[in-house]
Amino acid sequence: MTPDAREDGLTADAAPDAARPGRVGVTRPAAYSRVQVALHWLVAALVVEQYGTSGAIVRTHTMHMIGQRQNPADLVLHTMHNRLGLLLTALMMMRLFYRLWAGAPVPRSDGAAGSWAARTASGVHAAFYVVLISEGVAGALASYLWWPASTLHVLLFKALLALVGLHVAAVVLHQFSGTSVLGRMGLRWVPAFGVTRSPARREETST
Ligand code: HEM
Ligand code: HEM
Repeated sequence: MTPDAREDGLTADAAPDAARPGRVGVTRPAAYSRVQVALHWLVAALVVEQYGTSGAIVRTHTMHMIGQRQNPADLVLHTMHNRLGLLLTALMMMRLFYRLWAGAPVPRSDGAAGSWAARTASGVHAAFYVVLISEGVAGALASYLWWPASTLHVLLFKALLALVGLHVAAVVLHQFSGTSVLGRMGLRWVPAFGVTRSPARREETST
């Protein structure tokens, strides 16, 4: 059975977990809950804020190293980066526990739940949890305990950018091939363009 076969991109009913071999028979919810949607967009906004405040840290450290007075505004941004970064990490952990407890719908794809597209989506989603939580831990380590962890912090941010690139490209592709994935993440007012594939077609391609 194709688990999420509605034309509007919103999953119709809870589905057996065919995407995770070994967990076949476990039911997954039909849609992301309001809590999951709110946390998704809050975390995305915080990632933008973290990027925006990160320059101030680099400037603060450079001024410190050359023995110059640090800009007070940069010090505020540095504190913001650390505190909101810790908040972001805590929110990501909450999201992870919530997801493990409440589950999430099978990723949207034109093929079956176990298709390469669905597996790639699941992989990218899982990687977001790993990278963002590790990013926060590395940042805290670098700030408070062990500076060399800053190298990992910088590398993880590059990995995060790559994931965001893949993620947004996949969303745009879906949205322009008639599948409203944004509708599944609370933005039902954003139209999907292109030919909506019928559930029957999806069944055909899923074998
Ligand atoms: C740094 C920013 C972002 C992060 C960390 C992020 C992370 C995630 C994660 C982890 C999921 C899966 C949720 C779960 O199953 O638990 C997800 C789903 C989703 N995200 Fe993002 N996201 C980000 C930005 C965006 C942006 C900018 C868009 C829109 C262009 C977007 C659109 C979506 C959509 C539509 C889904 C649902 C996919 C589906 O239907 O299965 N995300 N995101
Ligand atoms: C989890 C979300 C976080 C994101 C997305 C993030 C992002 C960034 C980015 C983009 C940079 C600049 C890297 C560069 O120089 O190219 C940076 C630097 C830094 N961040 Fe974060 N950060 C996060 C959390 C934290 C936390 C929780 C702390 C500390 C409590 C922290 C402390 C630092 C420090 C000390 C630097 C300077 C590293 C250096 O100059 O090598 N970050 N962060």
